[in-house]
Amino acid sequence: MKTLNIGIIGYKFMGKAHSNAWKKAPLFFEVPAQPVLKVACGRNESQLKAFAQKWHWEQTETDWKKVISRSDIDIIDIALPQHLHYEVAIAAAAAGKHIFCEKPMAMTALQAAEMLRVCTENKVTHYLNHNYRRVPAIALAKQMIEEGALGRIFHWRAAYQQDWIVDPEFPLSWQLQKETAQAGPQWDLNSHAVDLAHYLIGAIKTVSCLTTGFITERPLASEDSVGNLKATATGTGKGPVTVEDAALMMVQFENGAIGSFEASRFATGRKNKLSFEIYGSKGSLAFDLERMNELQYYNADDPPHARGFRTILATESVHPYISNWWPPGHIIGYEHSFIHAAADFLKAVAGQEPIAPNFHDGLQIMRVLEAGLLSAQNKQQVTIH
Ligand SMILES: NC(=O)c1ccc[n+]([C@@H]2O[C@H](COP(=O)([O-])OP(=O)(O)OC[C@H]3O[C@@H](n4cnc5c(N)ncnc54)[C@H](O)[C@@H]3O)[C@@H](O)[C@H]2O)c1
Repeated sequence: MKTLNIGIIGYKFMGKAHSNAWKKAPLFFEVPAQPVLKVACGRNESQLKAFAQKWHWEQTETDWKKVISRSDIDIIDIALPQHLHYEVAIAAAAAGKHIFCEKPMAMTALQAAEMLRVCTENKVTHYLNHNYRRVPAIALAKQMIEEGALGRIFHWRAAYQQDWIVDPEFPLSWQLQKETAQAGPQWDLNSHAVDLAHYLIGAIKTVSCLTTGFITERPLASEDSVGNLKATATGTGKGPVTVEDAALMMVQFENGAIGSFEASRFATGRKNKLSFEIYGSKGSLAFDLERMNELQYYNADDPPHARGFRTILATESVHPYISNWWPPGHIIGYEHSFIHAAADFLKAVAGQEPIAPNFHDGLQIMRVLEAGLLSAQNKQQVTIH
């Protein structure tokens, strides 16, 4: 079987999730090539070596430019904070490497447009890891919408809620600084929700947004807790939080539907609750990532005495991706969405099927997110061109 050598850059949260995905994809899916965990890259040599040993990466490298310049690497896996996505992706594409990139795509729409251009010019496969599209219950929602189960869609309502920074003593990590994150939940969380809205409902035409901050300064982080980033303030004392803590967007879709997006890391008690509701003329759907195997469905054509939301447990072999896993009712989890993405990406690299979301989709997401920040700043609705 053909092999594809991977170089992964970044070895923490997403480094782990991606390593697991590359290892599992060929075990559970028919993939056209065997991914080889060739080289792992990060700047802290001892942590990197421990990571590589645990996840069976063959080699390590502390300079990402050297990974990209290697002629034996086919795929660059970008598991870095978003302020580095642009530089790494451009260099990788220019060197003819296929790209598996974490979200949010970039710091600005301008960067995203350039990333797309260079990838297109160099004819490399590019994938942007909005992994939730590959949760079977969400892929099922897409299928049901395409089959017409909801009729005309009126409403999209999304909320992405977490609570990991409610404590004012939580340190000033890279996610809380504009120079490394660009924005707070508007980038980190609403990027996922906007991707799902584009996937399930369609293009967004106008955006009105409100952002706010709850905690203005935080203890500076130790080097280790911020991933050894040069651009992140470290030391003792406190530093200013330079991104918003919560973002609320209202949008109009091109197809006439309207929608809302709520994103916060201050929703006490909510851990990783990405939920959405879609209301249409013939029916409705509701999803909650904290119950990710389930899809709620209301069918307005049911006889009146039996109408009500029903729970579809999306673990039947007829549901997307499931035939590769376990018998009905044997539920799957967060990491499976990454494995699905890795399997689909390997097929795309082999030219079997195009993959989405890619940098084209990422650019559209960036435009919406950026319009949101502009709207919040100017207190005006912004039209996306
Ligand atoms: N798809 C998802 O659901 C999901 C979930 C979490 C994070 N993310 C995204 O993934 C990206 C990474 O987030 P994370 O949570 O893994 O962050 P993290 O802080 O856990 O890891 C970041 C990694 O980047 C490395 N790094 C930083 N600067 C480097 C440099 N110059 N050279 C080499 N390595 C460098 C760090 O050492 C660390 O290994 C972010 O863009 C984030 O938004 C996506």
